[in-house]
Amino acid sequence: MPGSLLLAQDETVFLKKAAQTVLEKAAAAVEKNGFFTLVLSGGKTPRKLYSLLADSYYRDRLHWAKIHVFWGDERKVPPNHPDSNYKSAFESLLSKVPLPASHIYRIPAEMTTAVEAARAYDQTLKNFFRTLGQKFPSVNPYYTNSIGEAFPRFDLILLGLGEDGHTASLFPNSSLTVEKTKWVAGGYVENVSGERITLTLPVINSAHSVLFLCAGESKSTIVREIFREDGPPFPAKWVRPTEGDLEWLLDKGAALKLPAAVRYSAQHI
Ligand code: 6PG
Repeated sequence: MPGSLLLAQDETVFLKKAAQTVLEKAAAAVEKNGFFTLVLSGGKTPRKLYSLLADSYYRDRLHWAKIHVFWGDERKVPPNHPDSNYKSAFESLLSKVPLPASHIYRIPAEMTTAVEAARAYDQTLKNFFRTLGQKFPSVNPYYTNSIGEAFPRFDLILLGLGEDGHTASLFPNSSLTVEKTKWVAGGYVENVSGERITLTLPVINSAHSVLFLCAGESKSTIVREIFREDGPPFPAKWVRPTEGDLEWLLDKGAALKLPAAVRYSAQHI
């Protein structure tokens, strides 16, 4: 597997390392370009990270006026629904920090269909990155592939890992996962028997940095499969930033079944 693998000795180290990574990426991006674009992951794993970032030590070291926050995916629920990734991040982080409300780019999952919501979010991203290019003319906010298709280059994308090998809402055997041209895909997902909206793989792989956060013994089997050289093709394995860095941060539980060679070559923190 490409990228760097970090094994945290306990939950405190896991969360502090994740928070420190956000801090460092944000400081570097703001210093270099004058802004920082952060994509939040959904699910339960990042909630404690979001709470930690709202703690005064981290909150006061982040330049919120220059930070813009997006989501990697969303369930097809309204923003006040208990399953909403937006609700989770708003309650644990965004409501507790001085981030301008106009810098929060929520996926409008309350729209009638996931396809409509995906189309709307796609337009939001297209407008944001076009404006970014105008406001910061010395910065190229896009990655252009070999056939001339441009994708947005987020500074940092946080991702989780599902036990079926999905990440964001890119699930096995799903049309959303194999979308190669759109920036945002939406539709019905068999694995969750529901509609989802997600950034597509080309967008994720255009990022400057991707950080996977995996915690808990329930992830140990899928983590072993992901890090097996000859393992089956899971969507999370397809995350390989073309011109960016990839970091996997695991806690003890998630790392439990790692092959010895992989464990040996990992960075233990
Ligand atoms: C979502 C996520 C999804 C999540 C994984 C892990 O909307 O559920 O974006 O990709 O990161 O399913 O979820 P947990 O952190 O809850 O295990």
